[in-house]
Amino acid sequence: MARENVLFQVEEEIGLATFNRPAVLNALDARTLDELAEVVGEVERGAARALILTGAGEKAFVAGADIAGMAGMSPTEARRFAERGHAVLERLERLPVPTVAAVNGYALGGGCEVALACDLVYASEKARFGQPEVNLGIVPGFGGTQRLPRRVGAMRALEILLTGDSYDAARARELGLVLEVLPPERLLPHVRQQVKKILARGPLAIAQAKRLVHAGAGMSLGPASELERQGFAALFATEDAREGMRAFLEKRPARFKGA
Ligand code: COA
Repeated sequence: MARENVLFQVEEEIGLATFNRPAVLNALDARTLDELAEVVGEVERGAARALILTGAGEKAFVAGADIAGMAGMSPTEARRFAERGHAVLERLERLPVPTVAAVNGYALGGGCEVALACDLVYASEKARFGQPEVNLGIVPGFGGTQRLPRRVGAMRALEILLTGDSYDAARARELGLVLEVLPPERLLPHVRQQVKKILARGPLAIAQAKRLVHAGAGMSLGPASELERQGFAALFATEDAREGMRAFLEKRPARFKGA
């Protein structure tokens, strides 16, 4: 079946995934999660050196899981839906290339959870963030109760999760959900500029840094520090590390090959 809920294009090696159900503010139903998984699969297979995610239309990044689809679910169906969401967001988080949410509007519920699974989050002045699930008598099911406290701290996460309030972009930045807030027309150009900066660095080092942060987050400091020592040492077997350090000493830009 042709993909229509998540559009994907690659330009200058940068993938752009666009949630595309504007009539329902890009809400995530099972099909949309499957299409996102396909896009992540393409990036896993090397289609792009970075992935930017954004939302179609004026109003929303993703306004949450599709409430119409969830309303009639049994506990077993809800469990499967949560498994689907978790699986794709875990794959998104584990991509070896940088992932960036360009939050152009509402990022509520599942939309906030998608942003939480991205490495970097930038937002337009029109963005709003929140985990409003408690208003529906449910809780986040795509990782929100776990990634949110890891990103913003337990007490802030609890305020967001327990009140169900939504927060404008400036407040989301204060809370640590967003790195920078930009005028809507500057959002994607700024994100592309940041991504290009990252892509000029050594790709193996980028992938290693990402892996160490994510893998270490679930570990205690001792084993996590050992992971870092291994990752640090492993990069010294690469041509890129030799080239990067030699280029510095020779006072010239490095030419990284990803090897
Ligand atoms: N699931 C399914 N449909 C959704 C949706 C969602 N998460 N979010 C919005 N929509 C639909 C609305 O039902 C509406 O459909 P309709 O035109 O057929 O009535 C359409 O998208 C536009 O939304 P609307 O509510 O009219 O826009 P608004 O500007 O008045 O409000 C929001 C925007 C985001 C505040 C509001 O849509 C909202 O609260 N959405 C649900 C957010 C949520 O609880 N997400 C977590 C889900 S777990």
